[in-house]
Amino acid sequence: MLLGSAARYSRLRSTYIEISNYFRYRPATLRTGLRCNVAPVRSFQALSCLREQPHIQPSHRPFLEEYKKAVEFPPATHDFETFFNQAAPDQEVVLHGYLGNRADLSKKLSFARLTDPTMTQNIQLISFAKNDAFQKLKSVNANSPVAVRGKVQSKKGSGPDTPKNECWELFVEDIHPLNDFPKDIIMTPETVFPPEQRYLQLRSDGELRDALRFRAQVHSICKDGLEKCQPPFVEVETPLLFKSTPEGAREFLVPTRRPGMAYALPQSPQQYKQLLMASGIPRYFQFARCFRDEDLRADRQPEFTQLDLEMSFATGEDVMRIMEEVIRKLWSSLMKESAPSGPFKRLSYQDAMSRYGSDKPDTRFGMEISRLDYLLPVDLISKITPLTESFVDVFKMEGNDNDPEATTKFITEFLDSPAGAPFNNNPDGAPGIFVYNAKKPLCGLQPFGFEAAEHLEDILELDHGDLIVIQARPKAPFTGGSTAIGDLRRALQTAAVSSGFKPAPTGFDFLWITDFPLFSPSSETEPGQGGTAGIQSTHHPFTAPKTAGDVDALLTDPTQAIADHYDLVVNGVELGGGSRRIHDAAVQEFILRDILQMPAERLADFDHLLSALRAGCPPHAGIALGFDRLVVVMLGKESVRDVIAFPKSGKGEDPMVKAPSLMSSEALDMYRLRLRE
Ligand code: AMO
Repeated sequence: MLLGSAARYSRLRSTYIEISNYFRYRPATLRTGLRCNVAPVRSFQALSCLREQPHIQPSHRPFLEEYKKAVEFPPATHDFETFFNQAAPDQEVVLHGYLGNRADLSKKLSFARLTDPTMTQNIQLISFAKNDAFQKLKSVNANSPVAVRGKVQSKKGSGPDTPKNECWELFVEDIHPLNDFPKDIIMTPETVFPPEQRYLQLRSDGELRDALRFRAQVHSICKDGLEKCQPPFVEVETPLLFKSTPEGAREFLVPTRRPGMAYALPQSPQQYKQLLMASGIPRYFQFARCFRDEDLRADRQPEFTQLDLEMSFATGEDVMRIMEEVIRKLWSSLMKESAPSGPFKRLSYQDAMSRYGSDKPDTRFGMEISRLDYLLPVDLISKITPLTESFVDVFKMEGNDNDPEATTKFITEFLDSPAGAPFNNNPDGAPGIFVYNAKKPLCGLQPFGFEAAEHLEDILELDHGDLIVIQARPKAPFTGGSTAIGDLRRALQTAAVSSGFKPAPTGFDFLWITDFPLFSPSSETEPGQGGTAGIQSTHHPFTAPKTAGDVDALLTDPTQAIADHYDLVVNGVELGGGSRRIHDAAVQEFILRDILQMPAERLADFDHLLSALRAGCPPHAGIALGFDRLVVVMLGKESVRDVIAFPKSGKGEDPMVKAPSLMSSEALDMYRLRLRE
């Protein structure tokens, strides 16, 4: 890039300041050239600067001499694993790794541990003052990467039963410091580094690195399983520079140098995989990077990975069967317990919402919800809700040790905590809370009246100390992902586990949630498909109606149509979602144009798909598993951030590289963009 003379002057000036700072703050040892302590970023800046400032004297560049030594470091003769298997006394070896803390036993004898590059194995180094290596070892800071040449000796006291990695130690003959670890960084296994130093967090936190290794194993088992299917799935990479189409989620745009033209990053490879079905690739899969500009939570990232697959000449049943096989293979390979051997349980959306108040229920801990309004006295309903037309639901949480006081303490603390606030402030009414107490009149259920209290005892099989929760909701069909009582059920369970009131549920309860409504009311927060019909696709607009009756419902009342859509849920986590697709161009166009009422110019965004469907595209179905979530569930972690090397923060930022960053005026000019005031 050509710079104007003013810009070049200011750049030279800033690089000059940079290099003088660099020399000023370098430790004395560096300036005398004893060893190299150059942070990579600084050395890079310094080098680029030297190109422009030839007057800098060679004596000012000892770091280059040190760097040359590091460039020519000796290759390792063994990795640690091989070394431990093949080691023999007096063998000469070179090992690479990180130096541990040194223990100086006397003026003539030092010990240190050398940890291998994977930081999973280590060996004892011994150094005597008889050679140069002794001083060199003493000059290297702990945690520095080194190459060590040494002579193997068997550890005193080791015998045939000693584990292989405990049998050997190394007499240091030479040590090559490769890049000294600065003393101002304190790194212990307990140190928590800020997100700006994620690389140090990864380096000090073995659990985080293990999670990445585990993730890689999950990846290869899934790939292997799909490629060994008959017929095999074929891994195909689809473009990341896609175009904006109203599939459902908010997209990220990538401006181009062509005026007004932008790519969009794919929210999923949905359209490309359907195009592959029209292209004669009958079974496709991909570990697909997806991008969605949405509000973030512990289980969401703006950029995430899906295990995405699609099958032609197939239905949803075929896809669910394949996915169950993948899960079984993963669990049998990597987990202590196995996944169910037969077909996974299924629950319709209606049942999930009415029994658990969630379309991704955790079904391991009971607390099933049921309708109660038919039993309740009107004055009780009017006390718990301002709604004139309402349904009232109930669930029971079993008490602990038949102790009503402990239950009262638990629920009071919960409702007074920040976690309880949204439930107290529910505009449809706060929950009604009762503790069943055999020592109280009507067991504490007086507000229900005698008859309803008796029914309640029977229906819920109440016991001394049980908690009863009732909650009103508008008298309307279920929409969305959860109800207030469903959220409360989940929040109470979480609080009960974290406060020790209840044990944590164990195991993995897989289930398919099926029979979602094909359309839902348009959302105020999600972009949907931008149609004017007041409805949007519940999953995405390519999902097929489930039965011939549901096809008919498109003409009479589309909101009654059920989708051939299935979500895979485990322990309250939506692992994946998929559907049978509309493979007929006329039907797809009818849904987009007439049902969703998309404007013509947006409909035109789907021309490629409609043309491909028109070209004899076979019936097809597919699914995508949230790959980050899958790994989180398998490892029992809290957040997808725990299984992603470089995750984004809750604000969608990468504080380490400082992304996103402000566009420079040059970039704005190049893309012909202007910022609005
Ligand atoms: P869906 O939108 O349901 O379906 O996504 C599939 C799965 O991807 C995961 N997921 C996410 N994971 C982390 N961060 C996010 N922001 C995020 N959003 C979604 C979830 C989810 O179940 N194309 C369809 C799939 C298909 O029909 O085949 C799709 O993307 O685990």
